[in-house]
Amino acid sequence: MTQSPTDSLHLSGKMDTRIFLIGFMGSGKSTLGKILARKIGYQYVDMDQLIEETAEMTIPGIFKEHGEEVFRKWEYDILLELCKRDRLVISTGGGAPCHGKMMQLMNEHGTTIYIQLPPEVLKDRLLRSPTERPLIQGKSETELLEFITQLLAEREAFYKQATLTVDGLNLQMDNLVALLGSR
Ligand code: S3P
Repeated sequence: MTQSPTDSLHLSGKMDTRIFLIGFMGSGKSTLGKILARKIGYQYVDMDQLIEETAEMTIPGIFKEHGEEVFRKWEYDILLELCKRDRLVISTGGGAPCHGKMMQLMNEHGTTIYIQLPPEVLKDRLLRSPTERPLIQGKSETELLEFITQLLAEREAFYKQATLTVDGLNLQMDNLVALLGSR
């Protein structure tokens, strides 16, 4: 079997066993997470999806029936479980790093990557996204941009604690993989 550069990085044992992708809603965590996982041979896990499967409810349903506080508690519980598993690329919900001790937990148990994008780009992506997101439901385009701008400014205090920050507009996956392997 031939070995790709990625395999050798992998086998060198330098890469963390858990890679957490963090960033605002619409920043592409799931899309990039799947690509990254495939490249490095890790399993891909979507935290939101795991919460939905465990609760047997959709995220909007959880927000509606139980409220955001309960959602954050479940998010934390799922994260704790994921921190016990190895060789994972995990895409987190946009609010996860900003609640309780989730950012600290992720930094203690793996490498965190913040996918950074400007509010206008996030707004355009969210307007096009088919995913229902309770925090932005029913907002006009102007309201959405205002909401993103304000919330992103607050959340960046957490997102910027990430091990790595990458530009979501010019992300070179091979460079990212090389960076992860050289740490
Ligand atoms: C949230 C982001 C969502 C989901 C929930 C709350 C947030 O995930 O966890 O709707 O607080 O930003 P995505 O970032 O995958 O949209």
